[in-house]
Amino acid sequence: MQDQIIVITGANSGIGKAAADRFAREGYTVVMACRNIERSRKVQEELIKTSKNNRVVLKQLDVSSFDSIRQFCSAFKEDYNKLDILIHNAAYFNHGEKHRLSIDNFELTFATNVFGPYYMTTLLLDCLKKSEDARILHAGSNIIKHFFDPKRKIDLGDLQGVYKNKKKFSVYKMYCQSKMALVMLTFKLAKELESERIKVNALQINGAKMSKNTIQKLKPRYRTIAWIQNIFFPSPSYMADNYFELCTSDKFKHTTGKLLNDKLEVMTPSPNHPLSVFKQLRQITGKQVYPSFANDKYTTEKLWEICRHAVEE
Ligand SMILES: NC(=O)c1ccc[n+]([C@@H]2O[C@H](COP(=O)([O-])OP(=O)(O)OC[C@H]3O[C@@H](n4cnc5c(N)ncnc54)[C@H](OP(=O)(O)O)[C@@H]3O)[C@@H](O)[C@H]2O)c1
Repeated sequence: MQDQIIVITGANSGIGKAAADRFAREGYTVVMACRNIERSRKVQEELIKTSKNNRVVLKQLDVSSFDSIRQFCSAFKEDYNKLDILIHNAAYFNHGEKHRLSIDNFELTFATNVFGPYYMTTLLLDCLKKSEDARILHAGSNIIKHFFDPKRKIDLGDLQGVYKNKKKFSVYKMYCQSKMALVMLTFKLAKELESERIKVNALQINGAKMSKNTIQKLKPRYRTIAWIQNIFFPSPSYMADNYFELCTSDKFKHTTGKLLNDKLEVMTPSPNHPLSVFKQLRQITGKQVYPSFANDKYTTEKLWEICRHAVEE
C-alpha cells in the first residue's frame, strides 16, 4: 500500500485520528491535514509509533480559509503527484457559538463544512485524476433528519452575514444546513466527476464518542447533551473502519453519488410526504432513508453556483 496516498482533514482528533491510525496500520501514506500543527505533531508522532509506519505526514490546513487551502494543495503537490483517497472529515460544530465569518467573509460553518471541501477537491482534481481508483468521502451527519420536515430549506441568502442582525443565529441550524448542503454537493460532484472515474460518496454519521477537547468547544447547554450522548455513541474507530471500507474495498469500487448509513447500506430518498415522528426517530438509528430535499434540483444548482463563485480568484 506504500504507493497509496490518502489525505484526511481534521486527522488530529476523533474519527479523523482513528481513520489516520487505521490507514497507517494498513500501510498507506497518510497526509494529516490539520489546523493546529503544534497539537497535531504529537498525534502524528503517536500514530507513527503505534502503526510502525513512518509515512504519516503532517501538513497545515485551515479548511475555512481559501488561502490556507491553496497553500496546503501546493505543499501537497510539491511532495506527491497523485492522490488516491480524499476524506473531508473536518467540520465546524461549535454549538451555541455566536455568528462568525471566515477570513474570506463567509459564515464559518458553511466556509468550513461546504466551501472548503469543495475548493480543496477542485484544487486536488489533477492529482486525483492520476489515481487508478480515486475516491472522495464526505463526512455527513444524521442531523439532516430535520429536513424530514417539508418546511425546512437551506437559507443560501445570507452566507456573508449581511442580514445577520435581523435573524436569530444558531450554529446548530447552520451545521444542519451545511451537512445537507454537503450531501447535495456529493450527488452533484459525483455526476461532474463521473467521466474522470472519480468516485464521490458521503457517509451519514449517527454519532461517535467525542473527545473532551471537542465537547469543551460547545457552549454549556450543548456540552451536557454531548456528555449524555457520548455514553451511547460507539468509539471513533467504529466510524473510521467505515471510512476505510468505503474508500478501499472492492465492494464500493464503482459506488458513486451515494449517501451511506453507518451499516454501509446505500440510503434512498424518503417519499415526498412528511414522515411520521416514529419513522423520523428510526432514522436516528441509521435507517436507510434520507430526506428527499437532498435531491432538490433548484437548491443543488444554486449551491453549486455559490460554491463556484465563492472560490473564484
Ligand atoms: N462525533 C459525532 O457524534 C458525529 C456525528 C455526526 C457527524 N460527525 C462528523 O464527523 C466528523 C468528525 O467529527 P469528530 O466527532 O471526530 O469531531 P472532532 O474530534 O472534533 O474532529 C473534528 C476535526 O475537525 C478539525 N477542524 C475543525 N475546523 C477545522 C478547520 N477550519 N480546519 C482544519 N481542521 C478543522 C478539528 O481540528 P482542531 O482540533 O484544530 O479543532 C478536528 O480535528 C465531522 O465532520 C462531524 O461533523 C460526528
